[in-house]
Amino acid sequence: MAAKIIDGKALAAKVKDSVRQEAAQLPRKPGLAVVLVGDDPASRVYVNGKKRDCEECGFYSEEYALPAQTTQRQLLELVAELNGRQDIDGILVQLPLPQGLDEREVLLAIHPDKDVDCFHPFNVGRLTIGDPVFQPCTPGGVMEMLREYHIDPAGKRCVVLGRSNIVGKPMALLLLHAHGTVTVCHSRTPDMAAIAASADILVSAVGKTGLVTADMVKEGAVVIDVAMNRNEAGKLCGDVCYAEAAEKASYITPVPGGVGPMTRAMLMKNTLTAARLHQGV
Ligand code: GUN
Repeated sequence: MAAKIIDGKALAAKVKDSVRQEAAQLPRKPGLAVVLVGDDPASRVYVNGKKRDCEECGFYSEEYALPAQTTQRQLLELVAELNGRQDIDGILVQLPLPQGLDEREVLLAIHPDKDVDCFHPFNVGRLTIGDPVFQPCTPGGVMEMLREYHIDPAGKRCVVLGRSNIVGKPMALLLLHAHGTVTVCHSRTPDMAAIAASADILVSAVGKTGLVTADMVKEGAVVIDVAMNRNEAGKLCGDVCYAEAAEKASYITPVPGGVGPMTRAMLMKNTLTAARLHQGV
């Protein structure tokens, strides 16, 4: 079977367009503050993309580019100031933070109503019980893709590779809430290839180029590649050996142009949700 390509770029444009239209109806523009500490080049690329998305959606945005030497106290003071701002609905602190800064404490300091990443334990808890305010951006984006292509996880065997707080764990929860039978594989899973090969829906979020080979893809499976790696030639690629996997899958996401744009579109959706919450509409 030659797989159909799930076009994340096109769907992200559609999501952002509807966010822009809804935002235009609000009394006040949604506002997003993006905080970047240090000079990680990949993070800089992501932050620039988020700024562009805000412009496209008609949002107000502010960027705080802080030096790597920023102290924990300075960062917490900035978060506290942004928590108190009436014109800022969402606060995003780009991860990873430079060494020496306590990520956990910073994420805990963001007011749950402004936690558009859905990283605060309050929001993770609400997600866990199936009553989320915000969608975790990357897994939420994957669920939107499945919906758009009429792929229903109910009753399906879903396998998630990776158990990070940002992707693997919340992805497993969303698939579970959608009535999938979910298995999470990780670095200590002895028979990952065999488990992956049993999946109707396979989501890879490990960050290892070439991890998912054709033998790990069941005939007709849906393959979602969340990873953003660089190969030896410096080219952007995912975890999945795309060409060989596409011969067996029914649907597949490309890298780039798959999950990445959807993550950013979901951030805009969450910022709109936060703005509604703050404006009571
Ligand atoms: N770094 C990589 N992905 C993300 C994300 O979704 N949010 C934040 N804040 N940092 C990230």
